[in-house]
Amino acid sequence: MQIIRDIATLHRAVSALKQGGKSVALVPTMGALHDGHLSLVRMARRVADHVVVSIFVNPTQFGPNEDFAAYPRDEARDAALLVEEKAALLWAPDVSVMYPEGHSTHIEVAELGADYCGAARPGHFDGVATVVAKLLNQVRPDIALFGEKDWQQLAIIRRMARDLDFGLDILGAPIARDADGLALSSRNAYLTKEQRAAAAAFPKALKAAAAAIASGADVAEALAEAKAAIVAGGFDSVDYVALADANSLERLTVLRQPARLLAAARMGKTRLIDNLAVG
Ligand code: PAF
Repeated sequence: MQIIRDIATLHRAVSALKQGGKSVALVPTMGALHDGHLSLVRMARRVADHVVVSIFVNPTQFGPNEDFAAYPRDEARDAALLVEEKAALLWAPDVSVMYPEGHSTHIEVAELGADYCGAARPGHFDGVATVVAKLLNQVRPDIALFGEKDWQQLAIIRRMARDLDFGLDILGAPIARDADGLALSSRNAYLTKEQRAAAAAFPKALKAAAAAIASGADVAEALAEAKAAIVAGGFDSVDYVALADANSLERLTVLRQPARLLAAARMGKTRLIDNLAVG
């Protein structure tokens, strides 16, 4: 597997992969790869001839008091995992390649980026959309894959690809979970052993709320119960637990399909997100 850090070499390598009409799938990541990422790579191999993975910890999607500096980085380990998964190429640009001196253009996400994680993390989705647009322009894949764990991010990227005529397929991959239900996330590594054990309360509360709403419970009551259960389970605070239209992300007070339960909660310095289909 080639590891590439400059755009000219990347273009040559991707053109070589595409020779003979072969297709290329891109799996954008920030590294610290776990089974969720690897399941995306496996899915990418099923839908395309070659898989390109990018690793770039994108500074513009972190707020000033967030974990950019502490975000786990281990490129050698990640690269070894990607070799095992038969990725063709690892695109790992430096910040100075992604945002050269004088870089001054960005994408602004309106509507879909305002609520949920966007409310708690101002500017986050502008940073995500901008870097994803750049990664898509740099790699020029036929397909790009993203995890459904970041449901709002996936909806925003789908909308951006449509709005800006990127002309490629965006695929979402199901959430990979540990045996106790906690969604796999690079940020789970921040949790102490005790916190990690307690964190299972988060998916458990969401599952109970989704089941209650699907069987006709009052939405506001089910959401309030989920919040209370998450805090009782050891979380310090809940940013949001909301029922949303799965595509437009509009908040729903009454169940209407397709619906998704979206949530974010904080334990110590760690902020975890999760979501579930309802019904
Ligand atoms: O989901 C992520 O890991 C990041 O937000 C992404 C899509 C790679 C953009 O930096």
